[in-house]
Amino acid sequence: MKELGKDVRVLVIGAGAMGSGIAQIAARAGHTVYLYDGRAEAIVSGRAAIDKDLRFLVGKGRLAEAEAAATLARVLPVTTLGEARDAGLAIEAIVEDMEVKRQLFRELEALLGEQAIFASNTSSLSITAMAAGLARPGRLAGLHFFNPAPRMALVEVISGLSTERAVAECLHATARAWGKTPVHAASTPGFIVNRVARPYYAEALRVLAEHEAEPATLDAILREGCGFAMGPFELIDMIGHDVNFAVTKSVFEAYFCDRRYAPSQFQQELVAAGRLGRKTGRGIYEYGEMAVKAQP
Ligand code: NAI
Repeated sequence: MKELGKDVRVLVIGAGAMGSGIAQIAARAGHTVYLYDGRAEAIVSGRAAIDKDLRFLVGKGRLAEAEAAATLARVLPVTTLGEARDAGLAIEAIVEDMEVKRQLFRELEALLGEQAIFASNTSSLSITAMAAGLARPGRLAGLHFFNPAPRMALVEVISGLSTERAVAECLHATARAWGKTPVHAASTPGFIVNRVARPYYAEALRVLAEHEAEPATLDAILREGCGFAMGPFELIDMIGHDVNFAVTKSVFEAYFCDRRYAPSQFQQELVAAGRLGRKTGRGIYEYGEMAVKAQP
C-alpha cells in the first residue's frame, strides 16, 4: 500500500504538545497542514512552538533556512473545522477523553470526503470503541506518536476491529515516508508501549511516595545506570501528569481493575494541585532558573 501523496492536505486537531509536533512532521514532509484547536490561543502558541523548533534546527545546521520557512508556511491556522473540509487525513491530538474524541470524529465525518482517513493520537483508548457509532468506522485508526513527536522515531499504527486493512497500511506507509519507524498494534488498552510502561511509572511513583529515594536519585539511576534516555520523573514531567494519570486510569479500568496497572494516589494529588509538570512550571520538579526538587 502506498503512502498518502504530498498533495493530500492534513488536518491536525489539538495544537498542544503533540498536535503541534505532528503538524510539524507532516508539514516538513511536504503536506499542507491545517492546524485547529478549540482554544484560539493554543493555535497561536502551537504554531509558535513549531517555529521555535524549526529555528533550533536551523541554528544547529540540521535544516536550511529556506526549508524552515517553507515548512512553517505550510502550517495554516484554522479557527473552524469547516475551513479544512478538503483534508484527506485528519489526526486528532485533543484531550484523552473517549466521549470528546468520539464527538469530534462524528463532526469530522460529516465534513470531510468519503475517502478521508481519520486518525487518533490517543495513548490508550480503544480505537474499536472510538470508531463505533461512526458511519464509516473502517476509516479510523490509531496513529500514536511519542513525545516529542518531531524527535521520536516510533509510531504505533493501531487497528480497531473495524479498521480497514488498507487504512492501517496507508498510515504505516505514510509514517515511514515521514521518516518514522511505524509498528502495527492491535487495539488493546495502552497498545504496546503504554501497556509495558504503566507498571514502570507506577513503581517509580510508589518509591517516591514511600520516601525510598529522592526523585533525582531515582532518575539518575535509571538514566546513568540502566541506559534510559530520561528518568521516569523527568519523563512524566515532560508528558504531563494530567495526561499520564488519565492514561494510567484508562488502562487500569480497561484491564478490569487489574492491580498491576493501579494508578498512583500521589500522582492524583499532583494533578489536583495543578502540578502537571513542565507545562505548568512544576510537577515532580520545579522549572525555572534553577530546577528545585519537590517533595511528595
Ligand atoms: P495538550 O493538553 O498539550 O494539548 C491538547 C490540546 O487539545 C489543547 O490545546 C486543547 O485546547 C485542545 N483540545 C481539547 N479538547 C478539544 C476539542 N474538543 N476540540 C479541539 N481542541 C481541543 O495534550 P497533549 O499532551 O498534546 O495530548 C494530546 C493527545 O495526545 C492525548 O490523547 C494524549 O493522550 C496523547 N498523547 C500524549 C503524549 C504526551 O506525552 N503528552 C504522548 C502521546 C500521545
